[in-house]
Amino acid sequence: MSQNPSIDELSEEDFLYGRKGPWPQPQPAHPLGEAPGVVHVPINEWADWWLHVGSRYLLTLSRVPWEYLKSFMEPGLESVSDVEFNNYLSRSMITKFITPDFDSKDIEIFKSFELKGKFLIDLEAIKCVHTFKGLYVSGTKVLLNPQSSHYIAEAIWVDETKSLIRPPDAGWELAKYFVLQGAAIASTLVVHPLIHFPLDSVNAVTKTALPKNHPLFKLFEPHLRFTLPLENAVLNFKSSLLQSKWWMPYAPYPGFANGLRDLLVEGFKGIKGNLSYPAYKFPLSPQKVYSSYGDFQDAYWPVFLNFATEMLKDVKRDDHLVKNWAQHLSHMLPGFPNAHEISQSNTLEQVAASYLWQVSVGHTVDHYDYGHMDVRKVPLRLRQAPPSKNDEVKNRKKLVTFWDTGKYRMAQILFFRNSTVTKLIDCQYRFEESSKRAAIQNFKEGLKRVDREVKAQNICFIPLEEIAASIQF
Ligand SMILES: [Fe+2]
Repeated sequence: MSQNPSIDELSEEDFLYGRKGPWPQPQPAHPLGEAPGVVHVPINEWADWWLHVGSRYLLTLSRVPWEYLKSFMEPGLESVSDVEFNNYLSRSMITKFITPDFDSKDIEIFKSFELKGKFLIDLEAIKCVHTFKGLYVSGTKVLLNPQSSHYIAEAIWVDETKSLIRPPDAGWELAKYFVLQGAAIASTLVVHPLIHFPLDSVNAVTKTALPKNHPLFKLFEPHLRFTLPLENAVLNFKSSLLQSKWWMPYAPYPGFANGLRDLLVEGFKGIKGNLSYPAYKFPLSPQKVYSSYGDFQDAYWPVFLNFATEMLKDVKRDDHLVKNWAQHLSHMLPGFPNAHEISQSNTLEQVAASYLWQVSVGHTVDHYDYGHMDVRKVPLRLRQAPPSKNDEVKNRKKLVTFWDTGKYRMAQILFFRNSTVTKLIDCQYRFEESSKRAAIQNFKEGLKRVDREVKAQNICFIPLEEIAASIQF
């Protein structure tokens, strides 16, 4: 293939699926509210996924009796001290919600506080969950006072009871559980999905619109595997945990499927008037996260940008295949550069680095962090109504049932915790040129260096060995 072949020089054989590959379309469940989805996944991708990922789900189901027994032996929730609570809000995936921006509603709620220099965690998004009988959720907002290395929660707004609760109010303990529940739901169904579903379009359009030997295709290739069948299963299978049926021993959420799906819409479309939930835009670099969790993610970014720059060095700014690829994606994803924009400055390198970074570091670290949280401290279900100022926890052992915890434990093992099949550090790329082989070597050495550095700084949120090459869980 010549350096920059014209469309006429290419044949069907030059493309992975002969130009008839997967393509994004409006998501059937929410055509206007969710990111485009890939409904027709090639059969070979399904086979690969079933062999390496789907089969694990089926085998893991054998653990249901054991996980339920464990839940029966350890009833209810455990207490969460203020130190632990502040630690969750300062050093975990939950910190993605931290913002210095207060909108007019927030200012009104916290008007009795000095807000200068303060931060906010806003979990209003989960109000759209329609709970099952006997289960509760509430939107909450937490006012954070930053210290040198962490935040202290000063007050919690509980939206259901319109209560502003602070320590040592009797309602503080229950309010903390509602914050942690809201954070768990919004993390997994509002924020994290933004590293999943919008990127399906990039995955599919790359496979279908770029020839197999294009440098951009070869760069992305190891990072495309398993994703399309996985996403299709999560969004469309009748057995998906998002269907939230009572008989599913792994469906831990507290409400009906339609409300859960609305959370995905809130993530993609944003919540009008709420500064904490802007509409999705394809990021050209990692989102700012005000914590060591963010520092950890940022530490890897230059290594990816450098790698993409080296690997795409020979791609001409006016490469019409890249422009065509970007033009398609710009119609599907807000913020994705169009044909003109992709040819400016180093936009292509930023887009490529962002994609690679998101599907590996950005995606896996969320799973590793949330997937290892204590299910008896960060609940998804709660069986006491949200508190007013003076409402104590009635009985911590009855805040959840054993089947609530059993479902949650199963979901942790099946879906939330990372189950890495192909590792980032083991990626093989089909580049033959010695300069490219050297750049790949450099990339891997850079990854190992960052791994050592973040460990030395005590901000390692996932060891490099665990980071997956693609979205595969
Ligand atoms: Fe994920």
